[in-house]
Formats: sequence, C-alpha cells, structure tokens
Amino acid sequence: MEKKKILVIGSLNIDMVINVDHTPVTGETILSDHMAMVPGGKGANQACAAGCLGADVVMLGAVGEDAYADMQRESLGKAGVDVSYLVRKQDVSTGLAVVTVNRDGDNSIVVISGANMALTPADIDANESLIRECELVILQLEIPLDTVCYAAKRAKELGKKVVLDPAPVPNDFPEELYQYVDIIKPNETELARLTGMGSGDADIAPAASLLRGRGVKNVLVTLGEKGVYLDSEECGRCMIPAHKVRAVDTTAAGDSFTAALAMMLMQGKDIREAAEFANCVSAIVVTREGAQSSIPTLEEVIKYREGLAS
Ligand code: RIB
Repeated sequence: MEKKKILVIGSLNIDMVINVDHTPVTGETILSDHMAMVPGGKGANQACAAGCLGADVVMLGAVGEDAYADMQRESLGKAGVDVSYLVRKQDVSTGLAVVTVNRDGDNSIVVISGANMALTPADIDANESLIRECELVILQLEIPLDTVCYAAKRAKELGKKVVLDPAPVPNDFPEELYQYVDIIKPNETELARLTGMGSGDADIAPAASLLRGRGVKNVLVTLGEKGVYLDSEECGRCMIPAHKVRAVDTTAAGDSFTAALAMMLMQGKDIREAAEFANCVSAIVVTREGAQSSIPTLEEVIKYREGLAS
C-alpha cells in the first residue's frame, strides 16, 4: 500500500547540549562537566521521528554551507528522510541551539537561528510540488512567521492537513494562522502564551477551548508528566495520561509526539488513537539523551507497547 507523504517545513539546528545540575537562574554561573553536539531543531527532529517510525517524509528547510549542514543531512538521511530539498543559504551558518538539561531531564533552550530565518515564501513557491505531493504538512515557529503563514495558507488551499507545533510562541503570533491549521499542539507554557491565560491545571481546558474558538478544530496540549489534553471536533475532550518513566532528557519529546501523531493520522487512525501512540513515543524519547539520537524506531515502540499490555 502506498504511504501518504508527510512534509515537514521548518528548522534545523545543531544542539550544543550541556548537562547541568539545575537550570541557572538570572545572574547565576554554574559549572558543567559534559557537553555534546548533536543534530536537533524542531523541524528536523519532527522529520527524523517521522522517518524513524517508517513514514514517507520529506523536509523543506534552510541550512548554511558548513559542516553542521552535513551532520543534519547524515542524521536525517539515516532516518529515511528525503533531504534533497534542503535549501543551502550563502553567508549564514546552519542554526545552532544551546540546550541545558538539568538533573530532572528538563531543558531550557536558546536558538541562534542562522539559516532558518532565511527560508522565505519564495522558497515555498519554488518547492510547491512538495506540498502538492504530500497529504499533511507539519510546521513550527523557528522559521520566519511570514513563511509559516504562507506555507500553511498554500497547504490549506491545496487541500492538505496542516499541523502546527506553535513553538516557540512569538510576541506577535499571527492570528491569521489559526484559520489554516487543522491541529495545534502547544505545551502548557505555549498554550498560556497563546491565550494569555494561566498555565495551572484548571486553565488548560478553558484555554484549549479558547483556541478552538479561534477556528482550530483540534487542540492537543502536551503536559509532560501529566499527559496530554485533547479537545477535538472529532473525538471530544479527554485526558490521555502520561506513562510513568524516568526522564533523563525531555528534548525532542514534543517534536516526536507531533511526528508520531502525523504518522498515525496518515494511517487512518483517529486523533485520539494517534495521540495515544504519540504518547508512547514521547515516553521513550524522554528516557534517552539528545534530540534526534533519542528517537525510537517503530519496532521499539511496538515492543514498548507490548510491554505495557503484558
Ligand atoms: O524541541 C527541541 C529542539 O528545540 C532542539 O533540538 C533545539 O534545536 C530547538 O530547536
């Protein structure tokens, strides 16, 4: 059976991962004894996860003319992602991210955007055939907002499903974007920023409902160790509990969730079933270090699920 293609339009970074005891507060200097450079970037992590899980996936994004671009090509290529449409930009370096991971596995991230911010609506036009050939487009917000809006609009006009991971939430989130998005997947912090509401347990359902009111049919809020909240036209409202695992590094958990969700939707699953599967993928990701290096294969997820059932 022919697989339905997923197109990821977004960022590619090389992550400088620094392990720390605790996340430094303003004005604090702390020491670390471990640093690693690994392929990351929300877009690239999503493409990598979709590839590892066996999806037919192509990535459109921008890189520099440097060795970091080659690292990304190699990592994504190994995962089965079609990287032939990565756009090489001159005079700018591939995106970089400084990721601190604390002893609880929680991270904080600063991205130096580099080439990611050079991906323009003209690049979307030049690669419109990719949108035509796919069924679903995944976007995040580490590339220019006008490019995201343009890509989402074109995808919608061409009848494609659009999934938005609204990370990071900018100060000037473009309200017009909502009308092009079928599924939005913020975490609790992003949900609070998007809606102006709080991020306490009692705020999640009303804030998700507020996003529904802005025209998005499906809202999925990833809540870390609490699980995932779903508010959807198709499956109603429910809470999908998290799996109890020992988290060592939460980097790419949300990205893998988005990709796994998309992969299952392309197999005809409903959004609740897809989210339950994606929840398993994220549970595995947080038990491993790094971004793309932490993503499981489909076989590993199947084994994990069998373990849950027994
Ligand atoms: O979501 C995790 C990713 O965010 C990291 O890999 C980093 O590159 C940033 O884009």
